[in-house]
Amino acid sequence: MGKILQLPELLVNQIAAGEVVERPAAALKELVENSLDAGASSIAVELEEGGVRRLRVVDDGNGIDRDDLALALARFATSKIATLQDLEQAATLGFRGEALASIGAVSRLAIVSRRAGERHAWRLACEGGDLSAIEPAALAAGTTVEVEELFFNTPARRKFLKSEATEFARCEEAFSRLALSRPDAAFALTHNGRRNAHYPPEGLRERAARVVGADFAGGAIEVRAEGPRVSVTGLIAAPGFTRASRDAQYLFVNGRFIRDRVVAHAIREAYADVLHHDRHPAYVLFLAIDPALVDVNVHPTKSEVRFRDSGSMHGFVFHALSRALSAPLAGGAPPPASRSVEPRPAPMPWQAPLGMPQAASRYEALFATAVAAERAAPDFPMPGEPPLLGFALAQVHGIFVLAQNTSGMVIVDMHAAHERIVYEKLKDALDHASLPSQPLLVPIPMAASAEDVETATASREALASLGFDVAAVGPRELLVRAVPALLSDLDSVGLLRSVVGEMREFGASRVLVERRNELLSTMACHAAVRANRHLTIPEMNALLREMEATERAGSCNHGRPTWVQFSLADLDRLFMRGR
Ligand SMILES: Nc1ncnc2c1ncn2[C@@H]1O[C@H](COP(=O)(O)OP(=O)(O)O)[C@@H](O)[C@H]1O
Ligand SMILES: [Mg+2]
Repeated sequence: MGKILQLPELLVNQIAAGEVVERPAAALKELVENSLDAGASSIAVELEEGGVRRLRVVDDGNGIDRDDLALALARFATSKIATLQDLEQAATLGFRGEALASIGAVSRLAIVSRRAGERHAWRLACEGGDLSAIEPAALAAGTTVEVEELFFNTPARRKFLKSEATEFARCEEAFSRLALSRPDAAFALTHNGRRNAHYPPEGLRERAARVVGADFAGGAIEVRAEGPRVSVTGLIAAPGFTRASRDAQYLFVNGRFIRDRVVAHAIREAYADVLHHDRHPAYVLFLAIDPALVDVNVHPTKSEVRFRDSGSMHGFVFHALSRALSAPLAGGAPPPASRSVEPRPAPMPWQAPLGMPQAASRYEALFATAVAAERAAPDFPMPGEPPLLGFALAQVHGIFVLAQNTSGMVIVDMHAAHERIVYEKLKDALDHASLPSQPLLVPIPMAASAEDVETATASREALASLGFDVAAVGPRELLVRAVPALLSDLDSVGLLRSVVGEMREFGASRVLVERRNELLSTMACHAAVRANRHLTIPEMNALLREMEATERAGSCNHGRPTWVQFSLADLDRLFMRGR
């Protein structure tokens, strides 16, 4: 070991730059965050060569005093906090006072800024850490920071930069997150002189349509929940609009884009019931939390946070989203028209996600229970509020129900819808007590393996809570005396076989607790799979009314949509009317 030396300030800043600004996208983020902290309502970002050659951020914020310009470039100099208490309460995006110093140490940087009431602007330049004199300059208002030749004096770092296209793509992603975080501000982005994005101040749904996509924003469900010191607002994808990758997931904690495993897990859990397991939900969520309950000072780029109480955070987010998702018809595919704001040809309805084609022969005794009641369902419009799904017109191939509502035409996948209705009923019944049981007039004998007989005997109570009454009548024979009332018209023996099989494999209590929803979903599937059954118009209307009244009826248990809306405009477009 040699002598210990105090490192010169430039080198310290260059080392810090490795953490704070490892690439142009990170510098972009720091500069735009400064603009937002300065109260800017309009921010323009201009890039050249992926931001490496040039990165310029122009804002209309409140500017920097002439006498503070040099300090802005000094390390650990900030106007945003002064004490430890401020740090714990910091509501600004920045507070560490190291971004400008770091960027200045590894680039050619210039700041031009003008405070309100000043006669002109002032300019300060910094080249690899060396400050220029402060000179008068021309600028209408706000601040412009220009960064040229990033890493020109740290060749090792520069070598780590990727191609221009890759660096630009990262800049674009950083820009998107910032633009999404503040829909009320105007944002513009240009690359090599070409305009890439131009967003006016607008609402979240409009901004999300531009940044995430019109398909997401059109059908997204609004979330709004408030707790004592925390709130969550934003948009989450209708279950039918999930993605194969995690790309469209935006979480902002106190205005800052954050990756957080606790919140991500809570969101996934909330979708568990409406989402196919290999799909990912899309969302833009804003969590506002008392700064004292969250530590943002975990990481130099502040991309992670630590919640004081992550358990209650998890619960809060989970419940807020579950509630939003359980709205009865959330997730029904919106009309094709709202999926695109671009003037390209509208998607044809057969491209709409109608759910997987089901063999018609698999539909037999559909609605054994759900519709049997035929509850005084009207097959003519009633006075008062028109029902959302309208009134049934016909059945198509024993698979779909065609209905007309106020905005146009609705197609319902009977099987998918019925499966969800039965599933929600089963869950609800089991939540409140046990599933109601229907005694069989003639008990059914059932041949079973010795193991299954043993399992069924040992799990009698668990089976009873599901509505089954089963007794062993021989070493290899069970007698089924009662079956779940909600499912009584079905192949109860087949169903019992699979339930007992599950209990044998996982144990009765685990099946009822941990695997409960999977089990009920299987039961619902048994109940809904068969039916090429002809439905009468009142039966179809009863199904529509049940859907309107059932939580999560917009998607089947596997996350596919149960219904699709075609507006009159969609239909007109199909026939090229009015062109
Ligand atoms: N665009 C801007 N408009 C107004 N003031 C700015 C701007 N950019 C930087 N500043 C000032 O420079 C200071 C240092 O900025 P920075 O190094 O990013 O640290 P921090 O944002 O953590 O305070 C800020 O505290 C702020 O006072
Ligand atoms: Mg900053």
